[in-house]
Amino acid sequence: MEDFEREFTRVDTVRAILDKMIFGIEDPFEQRNAFVHLYGTGQACALIAFKRGHDGIYAELACIAGMLHDFSKFEIPGDVPEHAKKSAVRVWPMLRATGEFTEEELTMICTGIANHSMKERKDDEFSEIIKDGDAMQHWLRNPAEAYFSEKSRNVEMRKEFGITED
Ligand SMILES: [Fe+2]
Repeated sequence: MEDFEREFTRVDTVRAILDKMIFGIEDPFEQRNAFVHLYGTGQACALIAFKRGHDGIYAELACIAGMLHDFSKFEIPGDVPEHAKKSAVRVWPMLRATGEFTEEELTMICTGIANHSMKERKDDEFSEIIKDGDAMQHWLRNPAEAYFSEKSRNVEMRKEFGITED
């Protein structure tokens, strides 16, 4: 077999930050939820970004924002008020310390994270991708569950992705 050397990207840098937090969650079911929801949202955000005509660098930023969008919600046990804003404030210095992001990219990512709870409001294009990725992960993790598939963002995404079957 040919030797395969994979390329490490900023997603790998962020994975190290994220895994450290997730492995710190005591309840194994919450830990499972964190892995599934955060990585799943990251991938959904990347898919939506590509679908909306963006390039790989933009999709990478969307993926990273999706991976980190609920950081504080999972890091702090119990109900976390303002978890979107808290997560943005929490991850900003960690991302900055990697030295791999420009100030503009940090602003994009953290604005998307801070805005993601405001699902009924329309924000900038990047923030909307994070909201839709969050909604899409809830839908796809259990495709037959009507509650999430009927949420208005998922109804819109079914149209956007040309999905006509329920
Ligand atoms: Fe979420």
